[in-house]
Amino acid sequence: MKSISKKTKRRVTLGDIPRVGPGTPAGGWFRRYWLVVGVARDLYDIPQAVKVLGEELVLFRDPNGRLGLLGEHCPHRGTSLEYGDIEDGGLRCPYHGWLFDIHGRCLEMPAEPKDSKFCQKVKQLAYPVRELGGLIFAYMGPDQANPPPLPQYAPLLDRGGQRQIEPVRRADYNWFNFFENSADPAHVCILHRHAGYGQQSWGDHFFCYTDMPHVEFVEMNYGMKVVMTKPGPRPGTEFVDEMSLALPSIVQVGDTEFVHAKMDAAALINAGSQCEHWMFVTPNDDDHFMLFTADNYLGPVENFFEKLKEMRAKETPIQEVKPYDKRKFMPYKGNVRKEDIMTQGTQGRLGERQEQLGVSDRGVIKFRKIVLNAIEIALAGKRPKGVPARAAADAVLHLDTQVGVRAAQSSKVKIKN
Ligand code: FES
Ligand SMILES: [Fe+2]
Repeated sequence: MKSISKKTKRRVTLGDIPRVGPGTPAGGWFRRYWLVVGVARDLYDIPQAVKVLGEELVLFRDPNGRLGLLGEHCPHRGTSLEYGDIEDGGLRCPYHGWLFDIHGRCLEMPAEPKDSKFCQKVKQLAYPVRELGGLIFAYMGPDQANPPPLPQYAPLLDRGGQRQIEPVRRADYNWFNFFENSADPAHVCILHRHAGYGQQSWGDHFFCYTDMPHVEFVEMNYGMKVVMTKPGPRPGTEFVDEMSLALPSIVQVGDTEFVHAKMDAAALINAGSQCEHWMFVTPNDDDHFMLFTADNYLGPVENFFEKLKEMRAKETPIQEVKPYDKRKFMPYKGNVRKEDIMTQGTQGRLGERQEQLGVSDRGVIKFRKIVLNAIEIALAGKRPKGVPARAAADAVLHLDTQVGVRAAQSSKVKIKN
């Protein structure tokens, strides 16, 4: 007799995760969230072209200061609205003067007969846009008249302390290589031993290459967190360093003060980290993404971000580049960000590359399942992790990312599967 497998067959596979264009499973999932599409201070009085999830769009503020995100190409004969004029209540195409408001309604067609109703039949693609804490978010999913709440991400809210939005970073490889890298803490001790993580001294050289921390991976309501621990300075204590991955594409790293700001570890370990460092990944398409970074520092150090910038500037690659060495990513050793770009930028897309995973890849394996589940939930028309319930629209969204010394507890952490 044939046995019937109880396992439900997945509708999506690992190879679906990197592909985010219109009509794809992961593209449909991504479109259930508000996504960062720009930095408010970088949007001047001219339109800004931006590609998001494979769609060519143009971001602008209309003459009344309202934000708009329209399809980039004019529906008349395709000229880019990136070169359009912001005037008369909207964005005007320079070719034949069709004028669009932020809702995509066509307001004028100067060359058409005065009594023409053609204008009323034309609608340009338009997405809702909101601003929060200096970042510009767009919603490209279903039910645009009634989008889900824009999450109240903690570092974007004014809770006192110092805040900063870093200049946008851009990369030319698949977004998921960046995202799932944070579910792989082994690389921190190995790849980054040449840079900030190798040089940090707190926690008995927490990320030591030859004595790596104990790691656990905990599924959270927002995604997953990586819990790294080592025996603490006193009996019954432990050093802890956590990282969070929040869906659809947010990473929080909690150890900025120790690793990059190189602040006095002894003075800090009991207070723990007071810098929330969040990175929002927005795919332009399957081979390019933008990285928006928001920080909120709640500690006592004045001009914290200026000091951090100075320290980061000192993190230059230490690697000798021989005259005949023409490799694209050289030099990279000695700078955490360059080390990551080289490794992630040469992997190829998940689902297309060959892999052989070991025990130390269990965080990556677990995280991929969490993402696949979220994609399937979105495909089924339900609310995936990371989209707030309407009843919780005003709740501040914190990621549970602790760094410092605490009572030993990691062995008691119940890992939910
Ligand atoms: S192409 Fe834009 S108005 Fe003609
Ligand atoms: Fe890294």
